[in-house]
Amino acid sequence: MQDLEEIKSSALGEISSCKDLHELQQVKAKYLGKKGLVSQALKRIKEIPPEERRDYGKRVNALKELIEEEIKKKEEEIRRKELEEKLLREWQDLTLPLENTIGSVHPITLTLERIVEIFRGMGFSVEQGPEIELEDYNFDKLNIPKDHPARDMQDTFYINKEGYLLRTHTSPVQIRTMLSQKPPIQMIAPGRVYRRDDDPTHSPVFHQVEGLVVDENISFPHMKFVIEEFLREFFQKDVPVRFRASYFPFTEPSAEVDIGCVICNQKGCRVCKNTGWLEVMGCGMVHPAVLENCRVDTEIYQGFAFGMGVERLAMLLFRIDNIKLFYENDIRFLRQF
Ligand code: DAH
Repeated sequence: MQDLEEIKSSALGEISSCKDLHELQQVKAKYLGKKGLVSQALKRIKEIPPEERRDYGKRVNALKELIEEEIKKKEEEIRRKELEEKLLREWQDLTLPLENTIGSVHPITLTLERIVEIFRGMGFSVEQGPEIELEDYNFDKLNIPKDHPARDMQDTFYINKEGYLLRTHTSPVQIRTMLSQKPPIQMIAPGRVYRRDDDPTHSPVFHQVEGLVVDENISFPHMKFVIEEFLREFFQKDVPVRFRASYFPFTEPSAEVDIGCVICNQKGCRVCKNTGWLEVMGCGMVHPAVLENCRVDTEIYQGFAFGMGVERLAMLLFRIDNIKLFYENDIRFLRQF
């Protein structure tokens, strides 16, 4: 029993004098680890006279709980302190006059402008659509029916209004354009899209650029040419490009476009997962059902379409490995562009 009291007072003392999480971790191991003092105390129960065992066990457990509780409290305290120090350290006075401080264009905007300029140069018009979109345009008219598993490819944010959602891609702008213009059509649609996705390479809000060409005698080689030309301009070099057969409900045939890894020049690295290739967009010949949904005469017209992720291209262009950097607005990051 006296042992337990000693363990208790030394543990509480050590916990309270911890200065960071690392020290706290060591104290935790010393007392609560597999071979820690509390576990050892529990093992000694065999040496206790049987009539006192029950009481002893209770006390050891109470001690364990107490130490766990104190460590938790200390951990919260340390985290709070660290945050406060960080906030003080990184504090910016946004009311200061703009002496020698020139703002810069956000890397996503830079990338979007770069993409738009390249397509403008090839004669594409720029179209826009709403971010709160009709479910019909985002899915049904793109040949993605209600119970089709392809709806699960894009984890959707639904909103409190029947028949509407936050668009999961810029493809519905294809539909809007075909419904409101007659071919020939040659357009791109840059914009913000929304998906329930969140990790170092995915953000719930991100940007895409959609492309659509509809005219007579349009074929796969036209699409290949436009995409290859675009990628060469975008990366300002002859990047290797390959078209890999894939599936999208709104195109047939469909392909995904890979470029030779611009990070390692195809030697193999973390970014390309040692394959030497990076996927940069989806594309394909517009599915006849989609054209028909938009009252385009498939006896006369064909089309191709493509869609790319702007964050992904920006990460490759500027060699940025975490998508979250784009949205934190840390001046140290933004200043570099
Ligand atoms: N909408 C697709 C997506 O968000 C990308 C895409 C693929 C767009 C193929 C297209 C296309 O226009 O033809 O994943």
